[in-house]
Parts: sequence; structure tokens; C-alpha cells
Amino acid sequence: MKTSLTRRQALKAGTLAASAAFVNLPALFAKSPSYNAEFLSMTDEERAFYYFEGQEGVKARLFANENPFGPSEKAIAAITNSLKDSYMYPFDERAELQRKIAAYEGVSEDFILLGSGSTQLLMAAGVAFGMKGGEIVISHPTFDSLPKYAEGVGGKLVKVEVDSGLKQQLGKMADAVNGKTSLVYTVNPMNPTGTQVSGKEMRDFCNSVSDKAPVFVDEAYIDYHPEGLKASTISCVQQGKNVIVCKTFSKVHGFAGLRVGYCVAKPDLLAKMKPFSTGGFDLSRPAVLAATASVDDKAFLSMSVQQTEESKQLLYKGLKAVGANVIPSFTNFAMFPIDMNGSTFLSRMKEKGVLVRSWNFKNQDWCRVSIGRKDEMEAFNKALAQVV
Ligand SMILES: Cc1ncc(COP(=O)(O)O)c(C=O)c1O
Repeated sequence: MKTSLTRRQALKAGTLAASAAFVNLPALFAKSPSYNAEFLSMTDEERAFYYFEGQEGVKARLFANENPFGPSEKAIAAITNSLKDSYMYPFDERAELQRKIAAYEGVSEDFILLGSGSTQLLMAAGVAFGMKGGEIVISHPTFDSLPKYAEGVGGKLVKVEVDSGLKQQLGKMADAVNGKTSLVYTVNPMNPTGTQVSGKEMRDFCNSVSDKAPVFVDEAYIDYHPEGLKASTISCVQQGKNVIVCKTFSKVHGFAGLRVGYCVAKPDLLAKMKPFSTGGFDLSRPAVLAATASVDDKAFLSMSVQQTEESKQLLYKGLKAVGANVIPSFTNFAMFPIDMNGSTFLSRMKEKGVLVRSWNFKNQDWCRVSIGRKDEMEAFNKALAQVV
């Protein structure tokens, strides 16, 4: 009895409603001329490059912005305890996680849409707002999952170049919005550049632009922002603006392999995304219970940010030693220009057991290095000094 009642409650809160939509996503994508089975931000070739047989020889895994300081002890205990009951769908537990996140974000439960990682929600938004030729204003470069999904269903991307300090140009992005704009996608702090804009700047941007088009703010790295959670645009959502805030447990919580993310927005905006989200059957029981244990674990979260900061200082020391001109980072990774072809640089670093990523934009090759444990940063610094 208890189960069916709480299931009904979950349905009421909208957590299961999306599963009723039965949208055939591959078929939808296949109709698009730019269909590509690889929608993640890494191609199969890139993934193969990072594969090490048995992971032997890897001294520093610094290519995916993972957080080796997590998950917390509480999250691990919750996972362990959840295993014996993992034959059951976590309906009640998922509803409880949704309640806990709503309380944490200061909104009601119907303002929350959960996903198995935020990529799933970026996909739902990319499809919902990119369909029918929707135009999406983005920064360039940016985290490209949502834009790729949007393009995959025939959406058009309107790219606004970052400035010389690799910061997003919010003024120019606002100018790019017009009657055809279906969504503005912004990331703060930004991946892959590591730059940030202040909370006030981003809120002012959201408040003015969201009257013309919905604004999607990807706050995957918001806990690393110098203003911390005060930099969030959640208050815009609380004030009823046309703003979708997206968060993930993959970064500061250290859940990249567990897969939990969520969006916070008015129910009418979430309703546009829900037909393309997997609804109530997406999150595993261990992931749900671990996230419930971790969501408001302030002591762990500040330890995680602090450890990252300590490793970042070590990284900066190594970069300074070789004269690298690092872009000040407000995330758990940093970017710096390299005087070498990106793939040559990656291969030489890999030979030393250090895995990083490279980009090319503004006619320049860049290395993006994730911030890991201290021993990993030491391995990175040593390899870098030999490679450059
Ligand atoms: C800006 C940004 N958003 C979203 C994600 C996706 O994270 P996940 O799907 O693990 O929640 C990432 C991953 O690196 C990211 O950098």
C-alpha cells in the first residue's frame, strides 16, 4: 500500500510523467541530416586514446574533470546499504531525493527534474529547444553536449566568441537574441575555459534576456565559483523568470561514475524537456541513496572544494615553472596555451602516464588539465617540464 501511494505522489510531482511520452529518440535524431550516434563531448577515437589496458601506467587521470576527493563517506555507506534492496525500483527514494533537492534549492518539488547525470538533461533541453529549427545562442567555445544534441535534431547554433581573457561575452550574447531564438545556453563557471562571470552579472543577464527567450544556465562547477553558491542564478528561478538552472553531482560531490543531475525551473519550462527525459526509471537505487546522503553534506563539500584549491596551487606552481600562461581557473580544471600541435602534446604527455585534453580555438592550441590529487598534479608538473 505504502508503495502505491508514494508512487502516486511521485507521479503527481511529475517524476514519472515523462516515461509516458515514449519518444523514440534514435528515430528522432535519425531524421536529422546531421545525425551522429556520438553525441557526447568525446568521440570514440578520443575515448580510445584515453583507454589504458588495466589502467596500468596511468599516473594522472586529468582529462575528464572528475573529482577524486569524492564520493563522501556518507555516500559510500548509503551505496553499500542500498545494494541488497537493489532489485526494487527506487520510487519512494527518488521522490525523497527530489524533496531534499527542492528544499536545498529553496523551491517546490515540481520545480525539479532529475536526470541520470546532467548530460541526460542537456540532451532533453537540446532536443526540446533545438527541434523545428530552433536557434540556440551559445558561447564559443562552450561545453558542447546541449549544442550537439540541438544540432542533431536540426537546431541552429548562434555562436558568440569568448573575449581575449576567454570570458563569455554576455553583452554580445544578449545582442544575438532575436525573435527566432529558442534558447540561450550559458555555463558559469565555464568549461573548457575555467573562467567565470560574477553572480550579479549572470543574474542581470538572465533577468533581462529571459523576457525574450528562455536561458539555460549550466552550473556544473558553481561550487568552485569564488562567490560559491551565492553566484547561482537559482534566485531568478525563485522569482519566476524564464530560467533553467542545471546542476550535477559529478563535480564537487565526486559522482561522475554514479550519474545524478537535476534541473531547477518553472514547471512549464520543465514540461518542454520531460518528453525527452527518461523520467522515473533513470536513476539507480545506489545513486539515488548516495545523492540523498550527499546533497547537503556541507562539511564534505567544503573539504572537496578546499582539496581542489590546494591541488590547483600545486598545478599553478608547475605551470609557472615552465612559463605557461594559465587562464585563471574557477573550476576543477585549468586551461593554458601550448606551443605545439594539440594531439602531439597529448601523445607526449600520455607517454609519461599523464592524460589531459586539448582544444583549438582563437588560432591557438590549448591544454585543459583537470585538477586531481596532489600526487597527480606532481606527475603532471614533472611530465610537462619534460614535454614542453
Ligand atoms: C559544464 C558541464 N555541464 C555538464 C556536464 C556533464 O556532467 P554529467 O553528465 O556528469 O552530470 C559537464 C561534464 O564535464 C560539464 O563540464
